[in-house]
Amino acid sequence: MTQIITVTNQKGGVGKTTVVSALVCGLHERGARVLGVDLDPQGNLGFTLGLDIGDGYTVYDVLKGSCAIEQAIAHTEYGDILSSDILLSAAEVEFTAPRREFMLSQQLDAVKDSYDFIIIDTPPSLNILTINAYVASTGIILPMEAEVLSLVGISQIQDIIETVQNSFNPNLKVLGILLNKYNPRLTLSRDILDLAEQVAEQLHSQVFPARIRRSVSVAMAPAYGQSVLSYKPDATSARDLQKIVSAVAGDRFPRRKKR
Ligand SMILES: Nc1ncnc2c1ncn2[C@@H]1O[C@H](COP(=O)(O)OP(=O)(O)OP(=O)(O)O)[C@@H](O)[C@H]1O
Ligand SMILES: [Mg+2]
Repeated sequence: MTQIITVTNQKGGVGKTTVVSALVCGLHERGARVLGVDLDPQGNLGFTLGLDIGDGYTVYDVLKGSCAIEQAIAHTEYGDILSSDILLSAAEVEFTAPRREFMLSQQLDAVKDSYDFIIIDTPPSLNILTINAYVASTGIILPMEAEVLSLVGISQIQDIIETVQNSFNPNLKVLGILLNKYNPRLTLSRDILDLAEQVAEQLHSQVFPARIRRSVSVAMAPAYGQSVLSYKPDATSARDLQKIVSAVAGDRFPRRKKR
């Protein structure tokens, strides 16, 4: 069965796109068939993985029904990508038809058998796009920065997740909270870990044992059109992100040994 995973937090800059690009790139590298979907009008995912934004169809055209989803999927050396652009910011006012919560899920039905994983990047907001991602997904990963305001965001998301579970998608599970920009030496980071564990419990979930440490390579990688996994595989953050790829890949797609 295809696993469809949304990476979400309404707070900006917590590492959603970084995690999505690492999952797409890392799962692809392990031989899984993977599609990355950008539901953020900022269009960062395509840019991060070296796609020429402005070329061809985007997820906006797909949701609008202007093209078939297959026409909008780009095949890259890091996996398949359904990119986005600023036009998608009109979604809230433009997409008003009944059952608009199911737009993405219905479109993905046409291609999901071709993939082992579909990984969805979301905007830093809670709106119809985020809800479409939750409705289409089997799992949610919540990245957060090790600071208190990040946690406030997560408890607000909890309400939306429960609404989606109760009204639209009973199969949706929170796979875990992922601590990013983590510094094990700081007491604050450890305090946040305790709080995150409490929030995870309320979500019937876990804090992933793997945490992503801060490293400059993460910020550099998009400039080279790559995930940090291929840009600097030995960076601390790349090694941390590989652990999350392993947690998602499970036994089916183990990491391949380098020759
Ligand atoms: N572990 C890390 N170490 C260093 N820099 C990081 C790390 N994780 C993310 N960053 C940097 O922080 C910034 C925000 O990351 P990213 O774009 O992944 O967050 P986001 O949640 O997708 O943001 P937005 O909400 O705007 O979509 C980027 O410049 C990224 O390179
Ligand atoms: Mg982003």
